[in-house]
Amino acid sequence: MTAAATPSARPLWAVLLAAGSGTRLAQALAPHGGGEAVRKQYLDLGGAPLFWHSARTLSRVQAVQGLVFVFPAQDVERMSALVASLDAAEPLGLPWLCCAGGARRQDSVRLGLAALPSSGQEACRAVLVHDAARPFASAALARRVVEVLAHGAVAAIPGLPVTDTIKRVDLNNVVVDTPDRAALRAVQTPQGFLLAPLLAAHQRAQAEGWEVTDDAALMERAGQKVSIVPGEEANVKITTPADLELLASPMSGAMPAPRTGWGYDVHRYLAPGEADPKVLAKARPLILGGVAIPGGPQVIAHSDGDVLLHALTDALLGIACAGDIGQLFPDTDESFANMPSAVFVTEALRRVRACGFRPVHADVTVVAQTPKLGPHKARLAAQIAQLLELPPDCVNVKATTEEGLGFTGTRQGLKAIAVVTALPG
Ligand code: CTP
Ligand code: MG
Repeated sequence: MTAAATPSARPLWAVLLAAGSGTRLAQALAPHGGGEAVRKQYLDLGGAPLFWHSARTLSRVQAVQGLVFVFPAQDVERMSALVASLDAAEPLGLPWLCCAGGARRQDSVRLGLAALPSSGQEACRAVLVHDAARPFASAALARRVVEVLAHGAVAAIPGLPVTDTIKRVDLNNVVVDTPDRAALRAVQTPQGFLLAPLLAAHQRAQAEGWEVTDDAALMERAGQKVSIVPGEEANVKITTPADLELLASPMSGAMPAPRTGWGYDVHRYLAPGEADPKVLAKARPLILGGVAIPGGPQVIAHSDGDVLLHALTDALLGIACAGDIGQLFPDTDESFANMPSAVFVTEALRRVRACGFRPVHADVTVVAQTPKLGPHKARLAAQIAQLLELPPDCVNVKATTEEGLGFTGTRQGLKAIAVVTALPG
């Protein structure tokens, strides 16, 4: 790739089309009129309006340097405020602006293109045009499109082979012919274009009255070469009520990815002969995973010193993105003195659930030269499974030494590591 062909040498913005009226969906839901239907681009998907999902996705594409949101004229003010608040809560990290669309999709694109920065450093040279009604398009798909532009294409669009046989029909619904299916592609957005030829094609469309359903069609009519990149099955356009089910389906983009939480904790043992009363006041019998380990060294701790449950708590807090155990239960707070650590696990678990996740598996390791933990592993696993409300075969406890090395090897203390996997729902 030459420097001149890199996306960064050719500033690229995305135009996100959200100015449609969603007539097909609205009519199917309320065929006789009824109350004012919500436009499909504003429907809720996983706690955010449909259009925001594409904004989020496009903002993750490095080449995309800014976003134009195109809304129905009467909604621009209200939607600008909404975008500002969504961006404040979850920054896109890009400049963005909102403008009014037009009566037809192609009018909305034309108006969106007119809103692009046209001078200065940001002056846009290439553009991605994307339907807000396609919330499941991936960043990888947008990157594929940009990549083809970066290699010199004038226009690049995602397309999939069609599986149905397609018939061309006349006005009376009589079949005229059957195009060869192998030569057909069902095309999607985001569609990528060099800006100057796209603007020229839109101008001709205005002047000559072309009616199209996507921008690629304008480019074709203007004699430009349009390249196909592989599309995505999941990149459906929400159009009819049947598509609404996708918004609620676990396969949809509404479903967040699984999460993995990792926790680590260390406690020191009471040293032989230690006499400092302040230290002695914090010496506790060894307890691991809520299980008393008879005959073990004493640990120094503010709470009950259960290194394993502390690591487990941190792993859970990691899933909930809720900071760490020290933040939640500071050891300067006297109410946590000698507190059973199961309380911390239970609170962290509550937070995991509150943010829509449920643990499905835990793998924990205790590193200690002494005592021997092998005989206790099964009980520890059972106890942790109970605390996490998991089946026993979804918890694994490992114990190891550090071969006499480091602070565990010299029996000054022990450490624990916990990894917890959680799924949405
Ligand atoms: N769109 C637009 N301006 C228009 C028409 C459509 O910005 N005048 C946008 C839609 O918001 C949608 C995308 O273009 O994100 C694809 O259009 P489509 O799926 O046809 O949506 P609608 O036109 O809103 O739906 P319908 O055709 O059923 O009225
Ligand atoms: Mg439409």
